[in-house]
This record gives sequence, C-alpha cells and structure tokens, in this order.
Amino acid sequence: MTDIKEVAVVGLGYIGLPTAAILASQGFRVHGVDVNPRTVEAVAKGEVPFVEPELGDYVARVVSNGLLSATLTTPAADAYIVAVPTPFNEDYTADLRYIEQAADGIAPHLQGTELVILESTAPPGTTEHLMTRLQNARPDLDTSNLLVAHCPERVLPGYVMQELVTNDRIVGGMTPQAAEAAKALYRSFCRADILTTDAKTAEMAKLVENSYRDVNIAFANELSVISDKLEIDVWELIELANRHPRVNILQPGPGVGGHCIAVDPWFIVSAAPEDATLIRQARRTNDAKPDWVIGRITDAQAATEGGPVALLGLAFKKNIDDLRESPAIGIVRNLAENCPQTSFLVAEPHVEQLPEVLAGLDNVQLVPTGQALSEADTIALLVDHDQFLDVDPESLRGKQVIDTRGLWRHLQVNPLEVVHA
Ligand SMILES: NC(=O)c1ccc[n+]([C@@H]2O[C@H](COP(=O)([O-])OP(=O)(O)OC[C@H]3O[C@@H](n4cnc5c(N)ncnc54)[C@H](O)[C@@H]3O)[C@@H](O)[C@H]2O)c1
Repeated sequence: MTDIKEVAVVGLGYIGLPTAAILASQGFRVHGVDVNPRTVEAVAKGEVPFVEPELGDYVARVVSNGLLSATLTTPAADAYIVAVPTPFNEDYTADLRYIEQAADGIAPHLQGTELVILESTAPPGTTEHLMTRLQNARPDLDTSNLLVAHCPERVLPGYVMQELVTNDRIVGGMTPQAAEAAKALYRSFCRADILTTDAKTAEMAKLVENSYRDVNIAFANELSVISDKLEIDVWELIELANRHPRVNILQPGPGVGGHCIAVDPWFIVSAAPEDATLIRQARRTNDAKPDWVIGRITDAQAATEGGPVALLGLAFKKNIDDLRESPAIGIVRNLAENCPQTSFLVAEPHVEQLPEVLAGLDNVQLVPTGQALSEADTIALLVDHDQFLDVDPESLRGKQVIDTRGLWRHLQVNPLEVVHA
C-alpha cells in the first residue's frame, strides 16, 4: 500500500462528514463527496448541513486551511471511506444501491493498491460484494493488492466528535493486511482500542449490537403490555426486578425508532431467515407497540367524550430533534386520521414545524407544551424529553394521562389517573 496522504470520504452525512473532518484535522488531504448538491455547497463553505455539536468548528477550520474540500464526484485518492445510507427494501432486505453507486464512482480511479473502507452498516457479505463490484468494474487491473475492509460506526449522535476519539472500534478486513491498513488509518484519530477481525464478523458485530438493544427493549415492551393486563405498574416491576445483581431490564416505550435499532436487526433476519426467530419476533413486538399505545389513547379519549388530546414528543428518542422512523409520528398520524373530529395538540420543543406527514392534517396542531397541557382532556407522553419532566403536576390533575415512558411516575398528584402504557 502507498502511504496515505489523500482520503476520499463518500457520503457526507451524520457519519461521513465527522469522519472526513477528523481525518483532515490530522493532516490528511480529504475530499468529501456527496450526491446532494446542497450538502456539497454547504461543506465547501465550511458549514455543516445538520446539527452535531463541535463538528461546525472542525469543518470550518479544515475547510479554511484547505485540508477538506467537497465535490459531487469521487476523485482519485489513496484511501476511500464509504459512508452512504443503507435503508431496507419493502421486504426488509438491505437496499445496497447507494454502496454500489459509491463503488462505481471509486472503481475508475483505482491503481490496485488503495485502501477501500466500508463504514455503512450492512448485512454480512456486503464488504465482499463491494470488493467484487470494484474488481468486476476493472477487469484490466490486478486487484490482488487492493485493501478492502469494513469499519462499522457506533457513535452516539450529539457526541460524535468525542466518541470518534474515545470509542473502541472494530475493523474487519477482507484480508489481514486490509484490516491492518484500515487500523493504521483510524489510529490517526482514535485513542481507544481498535480490534481487528474479518469483514463478515465486523459486519455482524455492528448488527448484533443493535439487535441486542432491540431484543431487550422488546422484552421490556412485552412486560408493559402484560403488566397493564395484570394491573401492575411496569416501572415499579422493572425497578424491583433490576435489584437482582445480574438482571438489567431496559425501559419500555411507545415503540422503537431511529435509523439503526429499528433497521439493522432486519439485516440479520434476511441473512438467516430460518434461524433469526428471536430477532424477528423482537422487531415485530417493537413494531406492534405503537398500535397498542394508540388503543390506550383511544380508550382514554373515549372517556372524555372526544375532548382534545395532547401528544407530547415526536422525536425517536429523548432530547434530540431527529424524527427518522419515530414511532410517535405514526401514533399521531394514525390517531388524527382515524378521529377526524378530535383536535390533537402536539408539543415537540425540538422542532419549529410539523413534519410533512403531519402538516397536512387539519386536526393536528404544533403548540407549546403549556398550551397542550392546559387545553387537552387526554394527555399522552410519547417521548421523555427533559422539558416534559418539569410539567406542573396540577396541569395533569383530573385528566386522562398515558405516560409511555414512565417520566411522571414519581409525580405526586392525587387523584391522578395515569395509565403507565
Ligand atoms: N447516523 C448514525 O448515528 C449512524 C451510526 C452508525 C452507523 N450508521 C450508518 O452509517 C451509514 C451512513 O449513515 P448516515 O446517518 O451518515 O446517513 P446520512 O443520510 O446522514 O448521510 C448519507 C449521505 O450519503 C449521501 N449519498 C448517498 N448516496 C451517495 C453516493 N452514491 N455517493 C455519495 N454520497 C451519497 C447522501 O446524500 C447523504 O448526504 C448508514 O449505513 C448508517 O446505517 C449511522
């Protein structure tokens, strides 16, 4: 392998742009590549087209000193990092189109000794698929020294610039040499352990991390449904059970959202459909939870003879503005479409306007939290944002309250009819 001086990072989203910026901050000449002209325009000006603390400073600095540039097409480089989306198809198989497009952009530039790293989360075998695609695109080239590896990402949005440095990383090579080459590149900014393995194990490790979370959340969600039937407070139940030194049950909620936990387990299911029964069932259990919550809200609302309903939170998890795959959005939409006579007052302190899917519904309004609480007869908490912790307990008195996150379980309001959904 030639010494790495120039790196092309393909895909400048939540993962690619921080990686490009941190590599540039270590002195590499980095070419950021994205198919979205708005993204390229923003990065070329030293701006970040999404919210991620500290990233703005990094990008402004490395663009101004000429180490990071942005382009629409992939240039030649010594190393390539692919960080494009990997959504799933209707049948839950992975849509590898973006990875294939990225490979097609890289292939014409190859000399045969470059390092190509797949960072996108992908089903087992995808790194090999990427390598085969590169080889097939270049029958003229001896690719036996091409170094292809997978390096999955496990950063937490909001802490990406710190976690890129402090998180342990897994690097899986198509060959041990590829793994070592990728490790050396990540070592330039990562201070934690970098563990090498083969590409397929690295792909599975990422999927398994998120499936572990999904399966355990499904267990908590199942407990909440069972507890409701048995008239047991699920939050107290879990708190008590977790006093066992080797038990750590996660918290239930209105469903599982986001672009990782709700997606990645399907890649294992599609790789081993006959065998991944628990993982598939966990997805189904978590995907069924919003409907159960809708049932609880509908029942509560019926008891108020159709009065206004407050729905608190739209994000897929607390204290962020990310609405991707959020179960709360599906809940609001379903309720609003099925109860056209009812007014739904949505409070989401992290957004300034309703997402498109809700904006067209006449009976849904985005309002301040205080207004939602004071005007509604039924109140459903869908996301445990810190802002909702401080509600005046009096504003809940005498109302139908459905708390899907257990945020208000310690509030002293008597009498308070809280359904711990
Ligand atoms: N966001 C996270 O927290 C996170 C964490 C771990 C892993 N991942 C994985 O990382 C990958 C990227 O995720 P993300 O959140 O950064 O996605 P993103 O949607 O924020 O960014 C992807 C970018 O790739 C661009 N793109 C699409 N096709 C392209 C192509 N052919 N060439 C160049 N650019 C292209 C898009 O325009 C977009 O800007 C996914 O596989 C995801 O599952 C994400």
